[in-house]
Amino acid sequence: MSTDHHSHLEQSGASDDSIQQTHDRLQAQKPEKADGNPRYPLLLLGIMCTAVFFGSVYLAHYSSNFDPLIFNEHQKPALQAATGPVITPAMLGKRVYTANCVTCHQANGLGVPGAFPPLAGSEWVLEPQHEKHMIAIVLYGLNGPITVKGNVYNSAMTPLGGVLRDEQIANALTYVRSEWGNDAPAITAEQVAAVRAELGARGPFTVEQLTTLK
Ligand code: HEC
Repeated sequence: MSTDHHSHLEQSGASDDSIQQTHDRLQAQKPEKADGNPRYPLLLLGIMCTAVFFGSVYLAHYSSNFDPLIFNEHQKPALQAATGPVITPAMLGKRVYTANCVTCHQANGLGVPGAFPPLAGSEWVLEPQHEKHMIAIVLYGLNGPITVKGNVYNSAMTPLGGVLRDEQIANALTYVRSEWGNDAPAITAEQVAAVRAELGARGPFTVEQLTTLK
């Protein structure tokens, strides 16, 4: 193109012949373009027809005639979530318990006689006046004698406040309080955080120290 253009400019005195030749050449190109390839529009038409066909089949199957009782274009995912499986704090707590408490207190919450006290039916788990004690035992651990369900245990529980978050401790205790026939109110992460904030960083409790807490 550019060479054609140049030669055209340079040959300001072009002969009629050469002009005619150029015209002919340009003219000759036009019909080719207009011709095109007739297969492409047909192919496109075919694709569109197929798309419309399958679209209609899909709507016939799934639109339910756009009945507002069945077809709800404004359906919110939240509505579906509400009917799905609900994960409770106790369910999350069971995982924490299985990973952090079960080796000592056992899956049935009965502990091991003479070594690990039971959580099932324990007054330290169920009674309101021991609620703060229970949270403190898990956060800071416990040393020395403790009486649970009439039996004396004299061992040590390792502190778990350093490895478990407030929410995990709350969920584990909520699980412990609702399992094996236990039935006491849930523990919230806020309750655990409050005990942690009040008692600060410290070593394991003894029962004597626990019972003198306010
Ligand atoms: C390494 C073993 C061990 C682990 C792990 C452990 N505990 Fe303990 N727990 C004990 C022992 C031992 C005592 C009694 C301590 C003593 O004799 O001074 C105790 C006492 C308790 C008590 C008070 C007494 C009772 O039976 O009600 C509670 C509540 C308790 N643990 C809950 C938990 C929870 C919840 C977890 C997990 C987050 C846990 N423990 C993990 C060994 C353990």
